[in-house]
Amino acid sequence: MADWLAPLLVADRTGTEKSKRKLIMSTALVVLAAGKGTRMNSDIPKVLHPIAQGSMLEHALAAGRALDPERVIVVAGHEAEAVRAAVAEIDETAEVVLQEEQLGTAHAVDQTRAALTGFSGDVVVLYGDTPFVSADTLERMVAARAQADLVVLGFHAADPARYGRLLMQGDSLERIVEFKDASEAERTVDFCNSGLMACDADLMFDLLARIGNKNASGEYYLTDLVELARAQGRSVTAIACDESETLGVNSRADLAAADAVFQAKARAELLDLGVTLMAPETVYLAFDTVIGRDTVIEPNVVFGPGVTVESGALIRAFSHLEGCHVSRGAKVGPYARLRPGAELAENTHIGNFVEIKNAEIAEGAKVNHLSYIGDASIGKETNIGAGTITCNYDGVMKHRTQIGARAFIGSNTLLVAPVTLGHETMTASGTVVTKDVDHGDLAISRTRQENKTGYAEKIMDMLRAKKARLTKGSE
Ligand code: UD1
Ligand code: MG
Repeated sequence: MADWLAPLLVADRTGTEKSKRKLIMSTALVVLAAGKGTRMNSDIPKVLHPIAQGSMLEHALAAGRALDPERVIVVAGHEAEAVRAAVAEIDETAEVVLQEEQLGTAHAVDQTRAALTGFSGDVVVLYGDTPFVSADTLERMVAARAQADLVVLGFHAADPARYGRLLMQGDSLERIVEFKDASEAERTVDFCNSGLMACDADLMFDLLARIGNKNASGEYYLTDLVELARAQGRSVTAIACDESETLGVNSRADLAAADAVFQAKARAELLDLGVTLMAPETVYLAFDTVIGRDTVIEPNVVFGPGVTVESGALIRAFSHLEGCHVSRGAKVGPYARLRPGAELAENTHIGNFVEIKNAEIAEGAKVNHLSYIGDASIGKETNIGAGTITCNYDGVMKHRTQIGARAFIGSNTLLVAPVTLGHETMTASGTVVTKDVDHGDLAISRTRQENKTGYAEKIMDMLRAKKARLTKGSE
């Protein structure tokens, strides 16, 4: 393990508790993602809308991984093919089952019946549009199964709105009543159903077969499991989590609000881990951003997915990073753009208006001003002058540029790839490098300069005279 990662792993919530539990029970995660999400007003299925650049589904699956599930099944319906493709990218071991018609949450879970034939253990139901449930909460849900046959996750809502209400008697959950079906008195209850639950698989499928759709929506409600379980003398309980964890997304406004919640949490976590954010509210993080201790992030920096920054680095203002790695002591920006495959070694400097893509920059190398370095490797302590460009694309294919250690690339050099420059090579400013340059050699390609005595003055006089004639003519 890289030592710069150590302080981050302190925050890793997967621990010994989980491995202990795993010995006694296996888990199948069922993620409901078939709904249309009408209020998103979108061609994209709701669960694929991003929060911090990871789809809601990705967040939900990441949360579920804390339970180390033996099976992961996503129930897709609306735009199922897009969901299937996204699932394959996120987790190749996850399965997708189709719910052709969206007849309700119970019907959705029931679509996993065939896939889970022969599975014994717990089914944990998550919602694809409830991305923020914490690993800790999921672990508490599963732990509560030791005391109850069915465990429902609830939360005390500041505004219970249209959520289903959890009707408790002491620790026992008596019934869940949907808002539409609730009496005035029941609607005053603020303990709400998140929709998430954990239940023994055999019991759940046995009960699901008995659920009907005689209710205000004409849907098969998963929430009816509670009464059915109790009618069989089974114990049912609800545990509570913080309302922020059950934040559901139904509209673009909810999506933006969820992103803001994520950002606030992620920034606070980074600050706790010893990262300096000079203006935290201006730093935009991705769901998987990793930053090491004592790194300083100046204002207005955007992190796309797949960025790792080691300890003691400096990311200066207005930089944009995605799919890249920044090592200890590196300085980036202001106004730098690191694109996928940018690998900065220790103590490298990437300055203003520099774009790096798919390139390794070795220890101590500098690319300080106005350059594009793509599909390249730059050797140790090499200095790339202002305005240097790797001409990596011929219109059809991409080609590599390789530069050795301690080279000095003059300003405004064009490196026409594929091309290799050895250690300790130089290029003169303005050179267009089309041929390889050997160790210790200088490349120069430009027309010789000629100075014409007195020409500047003569040309100016001529131009001024011309302007005067033209102005006179137009009067
Ligand atoms: C559900 C709960 C409600 C709870 C609320 C929390 C039921 C009957 N009600 O209501 O008690 O307070 O969630 O947000 O369960 N889905 C499918 N297939 C379907 C229907 C839904 O996959 O046929 C998926 C949706 O994509 C979504 C989730 O299930 O991810 C919840 O469905 P939704 O229609 O939003 O349920 P609510 O009416 O919000
Ligand atoms: Mg909903």
